[in-house]
Amino acid sequence: MIDKITEEKMLSLAKGAIKNSYAPYSGFRVSAVVLTPSGKYYTGVNVENVSYGLTMCAERVAVYKAVSEGEKKISAVLIYAEGRDLPYPCGACRQVIAEFGYDSDIIVANSEGKIEKFKLSELLPKAFLSFDKR
Ligand code: THU
Repeated sequence: MIDKITEEKMLSLAKGAIKNSYAPYSGFRVSAVVLTPSGKYYTGVNVENVSYGLTMCAERVAVYKAVSEGEKKISAVLIYAEGRDLPYPCGACRQVIAEFGYDSDIIVANSEGKIEKFKLSELLPKAFLSFDKR
């Protein structure tokens, strides 16, 4: 599990990023921070669409930002939401995170100060993994 200082740093980045959440349809504002083994952070927010189905989750935006900058491995993902619900990652996001970090730490937190921590492998047991990662 990541240390307290790293967790605080990720939480603070998520709190800063959430202003850009685009969630006019659900009203559920989410941000996410990906940490890579080299110590770099990548943020993301949910981006909704009037078609609903094209909505993209905050954590997938953060993962894709990291990968598009050349990252191949993820150490931790923090997902943050405004309100009292915790933003547990959806199934699609779990599968996308698994591609780059089946061992990664997943932290979910909200603006009321609730926080829970998991391993991605607990949230997605018996995953279908890329052939070189089995
Ligand atoms: N959402 C995320 O961005 N991440 C999560 O972990 C849970 C769900 C977004 C997608 C959509 O914009 C809104 O939350 C409501 O489902």
